[in-house]
Amino acid sequence: MYAVTGASGQLGRLVVQELLAKTDAGNIVALVRDPGKLADLVAQGVVVRRFDYNDETTLADALAGVDRLLLISSSEIGRREPQHRAVISAAKSAGVGFIAYTSLLKADTSPLGLAGEHRATEAAIKDSGLSYVLLRNGWYLENYTMSAGMEVAHGTVIGSTGDGRVSAASRADYAAAAAKVLLDWSTGQQTLELAGDDSFTLADYAATLANVSGKPVVYQYLPKDAFSAALQNVGLPPAVASVVADSSANAADGALFDERRELSRLIGRPTQTLSDAVTAALA
Ligand SMILES: NC(=O)c1ccc[n+]([C@@H]2O[C@H](COP(=O)([O-])OP(=O)(O)OC[C@H]3O[C@@H](n4cnc5c(N)ncnc54)[C@H](OP(=O)(O)O)[C@@H]3O)[C@@H](O)[C@H]2O)c1
Repeated sequence: MYAVTGASGQLGRLVVQELLAKTDAGNIVALVRDPGKLADLVAQGVVVRRFDYNDETTLADALAGVDRLLLISSSEIGRREPQHRAVISAAKSAGVGFIAYTSLLKADTSPLGLAGEHRATEAAIKDSGLSYVLLRNGWYLENYTMSAGMEVAHGTVIGSTGDGRVSAASRADYAAAAAKVLLDWSTGQQTLELAGDDSFTLADYAATLANVSGKPVVYQYLPKDAFSAALQNVGLPPAVASVVADSSANAADGALFDERRELSRLIGRPTQTLSDAVTAALA
């Protein structure tokens, strides 16, 4: 049986769809803290089990019968190290044979503030003795395109990335990679650096918004603190704004750039282009 944590999330749902295309629904265990969110998957025959990272004592039972587990990193930044440790320990006691984990691009050397929890999780997985694949995912294209409409309306893209290039890929491409590894990967103890085939600067992103929309859009650089303040002004909680601004500033120095194209080799197709992602977001 193949289990996926965070199955109600945007990436988790896409992974489950990929698995459904390749294996019987009854072989898939969707792990979720609120099973009510996955009634549609229950109707398709997927096994849905309650799985709250904070409810440690219940995790091993929820993994009964699972052979291969995808741990999608938690969205609760700052609480992820103990949460992920609890999942890894439960996987061990439940007899799970293989774990894949969605880490961060170049997690071992990344200067992003987000990287620490991923490094700690990678270390816990290695220490566990489980067979593993670390899926070091780069930035999502959707991190940019989710604001595309607003950016076109304002004619401005803001960020601290300067001329830094980002090799972003769509959630759908990372999901295809995760499903493939869960289903097919036979050798453990691997680390994959996954990112988009092509990189872009925020000026390129603004130019793509302008091309696709037919309206003028320019990139405006903001220093990290000013960007964080601007994000808070549009309603982001301070902690989230600070993480986004930190990531944007570190991307200026190439922290989210990668040209190995391991993701497209793994999924057997080119990754979605920025232009296609912007076109879809503005449609
Ligand atoms: N590479 C990138 O650019 C990037 C960007 C954003 C996030 N990420 C990371 O990648 C992960 C997946 O991305 P995404 O877009 O799918 O995020 P998402 O849509 O926010 O999904 C996060 C998932 O984590 C679950 N979760 C949170 N706390 C939990 C807990 N205590 N117990 C069990 N499940 C819990 C959520 O469950 P609920 O539905 O119950 O909330 C949800 O299913 C994120 O969680 C984050 O670690 C990466």
